[in-house]
Amino acid sequence: MTSRQIGLIGAGNVGAALAKRLVEIGHSVKVANSKGPKSLEQFEKETGAKAVHLESITDHSEILIVAIPLGNTRYLKRSLSAGSLENVIVVDTGNYFPQRDGSIAEIDHGTPESAWVSQQLGVPVVKAFNNIIAAGLAKNGKTKGARRRIALPVASDDPRARATIMALVEELGFSAFDAGPIDDSWRQQPGQPAYCTDPTLGELPVLLKRADRKTAARNREQAMEILAKIPPNFPAQDLVYASRFSIGLDALRPRSWFAMLHLGIAIMRSRKHPVSPL
Ligand SMILES: NC(=O)c1ccc[n+]([C@@H]2O[C@H](COP(=O)([O-])OP(=O)(O)OC[C@H]3O[C@@H](n4cnc5c(N)ncnc54)[C@H](OP(=O)(O)O)[C@@H]3O)[C@@H](O)[C@H]2O)c1
Repeated sequence: MTSRQIGLIGAGNVGAALAKRLVEIGHSVKVANSKGPKSLEQFEKETGAKAVHLESITDHSEILIVAIPLGNTRYLKRSLSAGSLENVIVVDTGNYFPQRDGSIAEIDHGTPESAWVSQQLGVPVVKAFNNIIAAGLAKNGKTKGARRRIALPVASDDPRARATIMALVEELGFSAFDAGPIDDSWRQQPGQPAYCTDPTLGELPVLLKRADRKTAARNREQAMEILAKIPPNFPAQDLVYASRFSIGLDALRPRSWFAMLHLGIAIMRSRKHPVSPL
């Protein structure tokens, strides 16, 4: 494995999961947020990543992973040094949730989320890591050939950049799937069958094919309504099993029935909780 210089913008759920795992497998990781390196001292201790200012996040980086609320991408370019995104592979992990990101007319009218992100940043992006819950990204990687290894889609218009990120996905313990160009990346967005269902390499292409533009926004809003009813500490794994069951996978697995029951009870007991979009 080649040890790479990786920059990471965002130190939340996804940033923490990626930083920790990338350092563990031997990469050199820098991290930045909007508040500056002083605010990331604990993050540095927990992950082994080095906190830097946003302006220097791309210095010597070959890959830059953006893991911030998608709407905030609007303001990112002005915080980075001019031209600094030109020679790095930029990876977008973002998902669009209007409740958090504000309405974005272009996405509401069908622009794939990563195409919009690419417009904001003024450079091409690779879409990856957006359809798996951060807890799963941190813990569920497996060696090649292991049973039920999770597959992650990687979309990009640049075959070389896609191949580099697919290799990184494999190193992290997931089967990388070539999901085609960015124009097709809507298939891995929220509200689609491949979103938060931890598919295997056998299942993923079928789920991407089943994606339906017409129902995505409604499915996404329904998922947000469910998330608002369950406690924030509801186990991520049960959410995945329940999501799989809801799209017709694992109908005969007792583990899925248990997850559906658990979810049903949580919803019945529901109180209003702060929602944290995934
Ligand atoms: N949570 C999940 O399981 C999950 C899974 C897959 C994909 N996603 C998607 O991945 C993205 C990140 O999600 P998350 O859950 O990791 O978010 P999060 O926990 O809210 O963390 C967001 C991070 O971004 C930083 N940030 C926000 N605005 C910034 C800006 N303008 N410049 C630099 N840093 C900024 C925040 O720090 P400061 O506010 O201190 O700057 C924080 O460290 C979202 O689009 C989300 O939908 C989430």
